[in-house]
Amino acid sequence: MRKIFFANWKTYLTDDEAEALARTYAERSGASSVDIAIAPSFTALERVARVLDNTSVALGAQDAFWSDAGAETGEVTPKQLAALGARFVIVGHSERRALGDTDEIVARKVRAVTADGLTPVVCVGELGPEREAGRQAEVVRGQLQAVLEVHPNDAPLIVAYEPRWAIGSGTPCRPEDVDSMHTFMREIAGPSVRILYGGSVDPNDIASYLDLAGVDGVLVGGASARPADVEEFFKLFSR
Ligand code: PGA
Repeated sequence: MRKIFFANWKTYLTDDEAEALARTYAERSGASSVDIAIAPSFTALERVARVLDNTSVALGAQDAFWSDAGAETGEVTPKQLAALGARFVIVGHSERRALGDTDEIVARKVRAVTADGLTPVVCVGELGPEREAGRQAEVVRGQLQAVLEVHPNDAPLIVAYEPRWAIGSGTPCRPEDVDSMHTFMREIAGPSVRILYGGSVDPNDIASYLDLAGVDGVLVGGASARPADVEEFFKLFSR
């Protein structure tokens, strides 16, 4: 199965910049050996969707609300995202968990996203002090089980191991530690769940993760939004 490169553009780009960078992805994706998805900001979704139309690059969103009820001021629902052509939604990113997304909220969002036919990309991972205390397996197991309890077995699910301390820090998790965590997560999640690694992945270190048999792909933030790094990634993918 092909590996996945999932770009999380966070709030790095204006809508004009997002559209321009999406064009680069669209043009280069034809020769790519990996599957590609992009999660731009909500504001850029429609413009990026137009660029990606009829290409192999999939559209994702960075979050979604847990209900489609309608009276939810300020939220964006899975139904609205599906109508724009999104296929994936990141749920429980550590930057959302830091703002209050508990395991219960993450579970509700996973249910809502799945109910509207989208695939959740659920982020799990320990904080720096939790790793220092040797609690990473316990933390990840708890976050993962909260999702598996509500997720229907027959619906697609992607999980990303993203240790908080490795995100945006320039200090990625060592490949051997990623490898052992993915093995641990695979035992809990079973064979059908795709498991990505994320946290300071860049063109210099991406191969050390994609080469691991237990890693189904990468979730990339900063570097995926930098045009020069994107060119480097595609050089690697076209080999
Ligand atoms: P990073 O972010 O690649 O900038 O570390 C990854 C993520 O937050 O998904």
